[in-house]
Amino acid sequence: MATRKPQILFIGYGHLAKSLLSSNLLKNYHIHYINSKNSIFYVKDKKTPKKLDYNYDYIFLLIRPDVFKKIGKDFLIFTENNPTIISCMAGISINSISQTLNSKKVIRIMPNVMAKKSLSQTYVYSKNKKLLNSNFKNLIKSFGSVIFANNEDDINVATAVFGSGPAFIAHIINSYMIAAKKISHKSKIKDIELIELFQNVLALNNNSRELEKFVMSIASKKGTTQAGVNYLKSQNINKMISTTLDRAYKRAKEIGNEKKSPK
Ligand SMILES: NC(=O)c1ccc[n+]([C@@H]2O[C@H](COP(=O)([O-])OP(=O)(O)OC[C@H]3O[C@@H](n4cnc5c(N)ncnc54)[C@H](OP(=O)(O)O)[C@@H]3O)[C@@H](O)[C@H]2O)c1
Repeated sequence: MATRKPQILFIGYGHLAKSLLSSNLLKNYHIHYINSKNSIFYVKDKKTPKKLDYNYDYIFLLIRPDVFKKIGKDFLIFTENNPTIISCMAGISINSISQTLNSKKVIRIMPNVMAKKSLSQTYVYSKNKKLLNSNFKNLIKSFGSVIFANNEDDINVATAVFGSGPAFIAHIINSYMIAAKKISHKSKIKDIELIELFQNVLALNNNSRELEKFVMSIASKKGTTQAGVNYLKSQNINKMISTTLDRAYKRAKEIGNEKKSPK
């Protein structure tokens, strides 16, 4: 007899929700979603299920934090089967989710949009460690690698570094690409050459120390590299990146403390 696939409901079906649909997840789980139109659909064929018994094993919270604060209680109807609630929302604490959805089975995770290709590094935190069982671990492994956090604030850190991080990194790489193409307007450097340059630097360096030595090995005194590196240092690029992460981290904490906006 075929075993029943675990049933999942995605509450919210925006950027992150769609990015969680890795081939593993689609193959091994039965997934419904609900968006702001308030009807339920199958992820696979976008049809409305004939029978709705709300028999979910897992509920993913994939709405924006302000929406949850405003109408979180509306989702109580989906918790009849006492599902494990997996929140991907930035900032909203386990306590607040537990209270709103009247459940002790709450896990916070912080994946990123690379989950679709199973390349997310997903941070996980739960007060109740029993929830982090092998079924849950298998589920989260569909998104890529998993890191178990020791305290809830680590999820705020992960929100900045791993959740928003891919956007910061893409922005920095793209700045380099735009600048390289600008100074090469006659020879026209191609995007792929620049992407390979980034990939190759990463292929040769595995940690911060190696990267530092790598810079030194290229930057000979009074040479071209040193001219560029000196400028980067004079503009305090370290501080700029540090402030970028700090702003995202503070924003994650702030979201948790913000009052409900009026309906
Ligand atoms: N984007 C990321 O990379 C990322 C990474 C880590 C964590 N997160 C977290 O993931 C959450 C979602 O982010 P997102 O970027 O995916 O946002 P998004 O693209 O704006 O998607 C939000 C979704 O929520 C739905 N929604 C709004 N009101 C609803 C309601 N009353 N009932 C049911 N669904 C409703 C929207 O429906 P419609 O489509 O009908 O408007 C939309 O599908 C946020 O809490 C964020 O902190 C995001």
